[in-house]
Amino acid sequence: MSALPPPGTPLCALDVLGDPDARGFAFGEGTDLVRLFVVRKDGVLRGYVNSCPHAFTPLDWVPDRFFDREKQHLLCATHGALFRVADGVCIRGPCLGKALTPVPVEAADGVVRISARP
Ligand code: FES
Repeated sequence: MSALPPPGTPLCALDVLGDPDARGFAFGEGTDLVRLFVVRKDGVLRGYVNSCPHAFTPLDWVPDRFFDREKQHLLCATHGALFRVADGVCIRGPCLGKALTPVPVEAADGVVRISARP
């Protein structure tokens, strides 16, 4: 996996994220491309690398569409794996038990950023 952007890297304004909601971001290009997304649900912000542990595709075929229809779980559009928002663990689908790679994020002064905290 390519390196994540450094701590402090801004991702988006906090107020563009609903609840529940998610937004994807891409940094670098070619072999250095890294995709990640932030998700807010029940008031909690989390970040994950946007790469499904099944076949390593981005979860969202339609940009920023990361949730299932009920907006309860994260959905990989490629083969339908469902992931818990809280810890990124796959609870249904071909990568059952595997997990998305977490990305530390935080919000301060209305901006969502990559965080140094794990
Ligand atoms: S690539 Fe995500 S379920 Fe297959």
